[in-house]
Amino acid sequence: MRQASAIENVYDYAMDKLTILQYPDPRLATVAVPVERVDARVQSLVAAMLEVMYAANGVGLAATQVDVHERIVVMDTSEERNRPLVLINPEIVRSSEECKEWEEGCLSVPGIYDKVTRPDQVTVRALDAQGEPFELEADGLAAVCIQHEMDHLLGKMFVDYLSPLKRNRIKTKMLKRQRQAA
Ligand code: NI
Repeated sequence: MRQASAIENVYDYAMDKLTILQYPDPRLATVAVPVERVDARVQSLVAAMLEVMYAANGVGLAATQVDVHERIVVMDTSEERNRPLVLINPEIVRSSEECKEWEEGCLSVPGIYDKVTRPDQVTVRALDAQGEPFELEADGLAAVCIQHEMDHLLGKMFVDYLSPLKRNRIKTKMLKRQRQAA
């Protein structure tokens, strides 16, 4: 019964069904697969991801972080938090040679911030929530966010750019916090 299962899928992506995986959950290292078709299922996932992101006060969220391993990113780097951006099957088509250091954080590593150096400007090609292709040139926070979220789709976290010493310290801190919360 096709219809019935489609409805079930939509239900599965309701916001309260999605939880943000916490580092060092091994599922965060999963490599996401491309979205085959931007259909109602994908659109409901995108809507739920945006809700989760806004509720958590994040500027970006990758599907990987909610344990859905498809190439989908949602973002909003606007001051007013009213300009959602959806990137489906994103590809970086150009990166600047000039790099910049930013203090990054991540909803999967809450409360931890550290400096990461990345290209200052990127051009990304993706599909929007209607499945329409578009290209976007970004710099500043938006460029950082695009690269950070696209790393998630490859199973990579911002802490992977830090020294093993720092990363281990963060891992220990996170595991301790998770034990205390359990
Ligand atoms: Ni992140």
